[in-house]
Order: sequence, then structure tokens, then C-alpha cells
Amino acid sequence: MTNSTLNSNSIKKHDIKDKTVLIRVDYNLPMDPGTTNIADDSRILASIPQIEYLLKRNCKVILLSHLGRPNSSSDKEFSMKPITKRLSELLDKPVLQLPGCKGKEVENQIKQLPFKSVAMLENIRFESGETKNNPRLSRELANLADIYINDAFGVAHRAHASTEGITKHIPSYMGFLMQKELDILGKLMSNPDRPMTAIIGGAKASDKMGVLKNLSKTVDSIIIGGGMAATFIKAKGFSVGLSKYEDDRLSEVINLMEDHKNRAEIIIPHDVIVADRFHADANFQVASIDSIPENMIILDIGPKTSQIYNGTISGSCTVMWNGPMGVFEWKNFSSGTINVAKAIAGLEDGTTVVGGGSTADVVSKLKLSNNVTHVSTGGGATLTYLEGKALPAVEAIIKND
Ligand code: 3PG
Repeated sequence: MTNSTLNSNSIKKHDIKDKTVLIRVDYNLPMDPGTTNIADDSRILASIPQIEYLLKRNCKVILLSHLGRPNSSSDKEFSMKPITKRLSELLDKPVLQLPGCKGKEVENQIKQLPFKSVAMLENIRFESGETKNNPRLSRELANLADIYINDAFGVAHRAHASTEGITKHIPSYMGFLMQKELDILGKLMSNPDRPMTAIIGGAKASDKMGVLKNLSKTVDSIIIGGGMAATFIKAKGFSVGLSKYEDDRLSEVINLMEDHKNRAEIIIPHDVIVADRFHADANFQVASIDSIPENMIILDIGPKTSQIYNGTISGSCTVMWNGPMGVFEWKNFSSGTINVAKAIAGLEDGTTVVGGGSTADVVSKLKLSNNVTHVSTGGGATLTYLEGKALPAVEAIIKND
């Protein structure tokens, strides 16, 4: 997938004045548990430039998104209504909440909508055909507009009716945010300023194995943290106490660390914070990886490791981060993650990219989002891209051209 291929699908190349445009956005926002309060509106903010561009060209803008994983349309807690309200505040103009995603009533309301106005369809996952990529649903969605724009990078790894199927029935283009995400990640994987360091954390080595294998061919250093570090420490031959490690992944991890054909040096923790139980108030201490007590569990990287990681990060020209270093939510086990976040934010002349999902939440909670080059709006989509796999929603737009 080259940049020129992508650019040919850009909406900027096409006359879209006075059109009805359906934009697939990813407004699958984190909500405060058990409420309809939006915990982080970054994904809405990231979608505004595309909406405003269309409004300036006198378009009717119809937004389409999923929210969560509802079982049926009676799961009212997954309604788009709170998001519609927030979007209206951010755009400083009314946004009409449509009663569904398809059908006569929705079609009529869209027809009656004046140009230069915005409406939001209901949660597309209220339709069972969405995740099954049902062709009938794709056609019904396509019937709502003249043009379709996919600006939902966060869901580009899903071949659903609203991301993949729909492109077979309507002229389809890449949105600004989608284009920006692909440009940034494309440069990271093909032509980064070197040295480039990838920082990979998270709970399980198995979840990140594909990404690690792919990155090890291109980046200069890979820093390991999070629960998955236990599998790396075990693979080095040390005891990890009561920490969970993945026995069936040990040989893959050993290969990754020892394969001389790989470009990347894999850097694992030198010391860790261990606790007597998996609890925010657990007793804890620092342990070197060669002396982790049998009755304790690793919950963060240690201070010496933070120092070593800071050194690698500050000596890099490009840094990409995905996954916390420890149990960031608990104060006593958050230092490793905070140190990494601050080291990345402090890299003044480098390119720094933070993968979406929980890593984006960390950077946002620490109010460091403005100190990094780019915070991706994609979690699973970013990982799929970094694994070197195709994104079905992007492939579909390219085919449509
Ligand atoms: C995300 O938040 O990662 C995307 O919106 C995809 O959501 P999904 O995993 O429910 O498909």
C-alpha cells in the first residue's frame, strides 16, 4: 500500500459540493463505567476537520459509527445519543439524532435535512448484519447518501457492512483522519528516522507476538514491559515467582531475542517491582530479575530499568509505544509507565507515536497528548498494521477507486 495509492482515494481530489455524504467514523468512545458520561472525546475531536471540510462545501453530513458491543437494539446504554450531544457542542451547531441506521423513516429524515447540516445514525451494531458484513445492510446504508467516506481508522481492521461491504455499492473515499493515520504508520514502518525504538507492553506476549516479529525486522530496539515481560524473563532462564508467563511461547520468545537476522535488539527489564498479591494495596519491593522471590508477582518495571529505558528513548529519533509497563491503574505500580510516558514526551526533536487503546488513555490521563507527535485513534487497527497485515476497510476503498 503506497502513499500514491492512498492519495488517489482522497476526497480532496473529487467534486463533492452539495452532496449527501455518509462518513463512517469511530465514535466507540470510552465511557465512565455504568454511566453515559464520555470519558475521553479524542476520537470525536479527531473527526472534526473532515466534517467541517464537507460543511464548507454545502454537504449534508450523515455520521455512522458503532459504540461498544451491544447484543441488540434494546441495549439502550449503547445509544449514540450522548455522543451526538457532545459532537453538537464541539461543532457548535445542532446535530440531528436519527432513530435508526436504515429504513424509510431514516431515509425521509435525511431527504428533508437542509444542506450544510449534520445528522447521526444510531449505533450500527444494533443491526445484527453489521459484524456479519451482510450485503443487504451494506446496500441499505449506501442508499442513504451519494458518497461514502471512511474516516474510522480505529475499526479499519474489521470487515463489516459499514466498513467493507458498503464500498461495493457507492463511490467510496478515504477520510482525512484515515489518511493521516496511514501516512504516519506507513512512514514508521518503511522509512523512519533512525535509530527507531518500539516500546511494547501489555498483559500477554501472545497478543503482541505478531507485532514483535514484524517490528524486529525494521526497528533498531524493542523495549519490553507489562505482564508479558514475565515470559521474556522466564525465557532468559530466571524464575518469575508467581507471575503468569506463557510456557507455550517461550521458544518463540527465545528465537526473537536470539535470531541474529533480526535488526532489533530486544531490551528486557533489569529489575522489577514485585508484590505479595495482585492488589492495589499489596506489599511491594524492588527485585533484580535474577532474584525474584518465589512467592511474589511482577506488577511493574523497576527503577534501574526505567533509567535504562529512558536512555534508549532519549537516544532515539523515532519512538513508537504500545502497551503500559505495569499495572498503571494502581499508584504503587504506575511509575514504570509514567517514566516511559515522560521520556517519550521529553524527546523534543524526535517523532513520537503512541498506539491507541489503553496507551492513549495513559498519555491522556497524564496530560501529555500534546507533547507527542501523534496519538493514534486505533488500538486493534494499529496493532494489525504494525503486524504487517492488511486492513480490510482500507483495501476495500483502494479496490473501489
Ligand atoms: C476500537 O475501539 O478498538 C474500535 O472501535 C474497534 O472496536 P471493536 O474491537 O469492538 O471492533
